Amino acid sequence: MAAEMTVPSDAQLIKAQADLQRHSLTYLTSMSLRCAIELGIPTAIHRLGGTASLPDLMAALSLPPPKEPFLSRVLRLLAKSDALACTEDGVYSLTPLSYILVDGVLIDGEARQIAFPLAVTSRYHMESGLGLADWFKNDRALPVPSPFEHVHAAAPFDESMTLLDPETDKLFYEALAAHDHMGIGTVVRECRGLFNGLQSLTDCCGGDGTTARAIVKAFPHIKCNVLDLPKVIEKVPSDGVVNYVAGDMFHTVPPAQAVMLKLVLHFWSDEDCIKILAQCKKAIPSREMGGKVIIIDIVLGSSLETISETELLMDMLMFRINSAVK
Ligand SMILES: C[S@@+](CC[C@H](N)C(=O)[O-])C[C@H]1O[C@@H](n2cnc3c(N)ncnc32)[C@H](O)[C@@H]1O
Repeated sequence: MAAEMTVPSDAQLIKAQADLQRHSLTYLTSMSLRCAIELGIPTAIHRLGGTASLPDLMAALSLPPPKEPFLSRVLRLLAKSDALACTEDGVYSLTPLSYILVDGVLIDGEARQIAFPLAVTSRYHMESGLGLADWFKNDRALPVPSPFEHVHAAAPFDESMTLLDPETDKLFYEALAAHDHMGIGTVVRECRGLFNGLQSLTDCCGGDGTTARAIVKAFPHIKCNVLDLPKVIEKVPSDGVVNYVAGDMFHTVPPAQAVMLKLVLHFWSDEDCIKILAQCKKAIPSREMGGKVIIIDIVLGSSLETISETELLMDMLMFRINSAVK
């Protein structure tokens, strides 16, 4: 027999309705951010000297005058979401979030940060979100395709996506680079102790070497290897700064005093993570001889509320594109 339900109070019902509306409509915040990027609003505010009124923006973006009241509504939502700052007189300025969206601003690498919001709000991601319940009901044999593959019969960062839509495939790679590279500057500034005393380091799954080059710039005495798949290493011009090694971390990891796994483990199943860590262990000397594995990743369970919501959302993103990760 179903349990008897407690009827919420009127105050609780009003809050429940408001919460329902907010949760149902929160995608409009993402869409407004996407719209601001596509219109070039952060760059326009920057070019206008860092502050702009609504009429300034309308003129700078050459938008048709009847659209002014509608733009004001988009800007108001963005200001509420900390994507823009706004004074009581309606003067908009950049926040740290919109600063990283200005054209030409590159944080820790060559990839534009706008690639991440544009990729995750692309129709491919939206449609895979709409297919989630259908994916749950589907009883397919193992290995289970991700919700993204279930809807599109293609997977991000796989040849199938290149064939499906080469332009979006390129955007996905840029979004990955934007996501992966951001933060290494802060790590070398704020966590110097991690690298102090190291003579050599292998950046395992180091991609195009952006992270390793930032480490060598801050700690020039460290000899750095970058291990990645042959198809990635083939495209990286040798730079004389780091040593690029084409290979497979499941087979061997180039030896060094330390191996770094930055934003790697979250993509793999627990069984694969154990195999990767076993290869890393083989590549380093004992702890007594100064060997260590440095793991930098997004970990669920931070104490900061906005960050922990971001962790859960990133976890959902991972699950949507790769259901091997539990
Ligand atoms: C999320 S990125 C890593 C980001 C990078 N560590 C950083 O912080 O910029 C994942 C990388 O792992 C590489 N990769 C995937 N499978 C691999 C394997 N078996 N062996 C080596 N590299 C691999 C991919 O080519 C890709 O460059």
